[in-house]
Amino acid sequence: MPLKLLVLASGRGSNVDRVARSIKEGKLDCEIAAVVTNVEDAGVIEIAAKHELPCYVVPSRSLKRRQHEEQLLAFLDEKGLTRATIDFVLLAGYMRILTGHFLAAFKEESASGAYFRVVNIHPSLLPSFTGATAYADAFAAGVAVSGVTVHLVDEEVDHGPILAQAPFFRKEGDDFESFACRGLDLEHILLPAVLSRLAELGPNFELSSLPFDMGGLSG
Ligand code: GAR
Repeated sequence: MPLKLLVLASGRGSNVDRVARSIKEGKLDCEIAAVVTNVEDAGVIEIAAKHELPCYVVPSRSLKRRQHEEQLLAFLDEKGLTRATIDFVLLAGYMRILTGHFLAAFKEESASGAYFRVVNIHPSLLPSFTGATAYADAFAAGVAVSGVTVHLVDEEVDHGPILAQAPFFRKEGDDFESFACRGLDLEHILLPAVLSRLAELGPNFELSSLPFDMGGLSG
């Protein structure tokens, strides 16, 4: 059975594009049940259309976090996109912080502890450079090595059990664009690879098996 994903995204959607392509090419045993964005004109809407994925907008503009989460949960419930039908929520450039209120709807009790079935891709080697501008912050800090993290989400921002990380290196002559571009290329490799591992393990993997060994993957 393919791993069923509900994708939340706010931006251009290049990660959704890559995941959907990997699925189409038969390289990833996942299914994207729906894409939901909080931004009315997000690029991901066009990406979802290109891949013929159901895509919905649940706008967050001018709403308090709790208010938006309640609307989102009610919407997901109405569409049958719940813990009963979805294996993982994938945050692919979702630029809203999720609180425990939302996360509780996707809680899992495993033998090795409780976690939320919510996966995030973050453009840094967490715990360094949390927040919405991680590539810019890492570049400005002059790091020689940065990277990409895919992790399970918890109630803290850009935090939770790490599924996998991969590094990329700052090269001589890099400007911010070339640096960030190297990182994004790595995201597009790491995310499908981690989802593939999750699909192999099935939705009931144990926290004790983390982080995954990505075989020295780097950018
Ligand atoms: C990606 O770089 C992703 O890692 C980042 O937003 C971008 C979305 O790009 N996420 C975060 O910063 C989350 N804190 P995309 O819309 O092209 O996939």
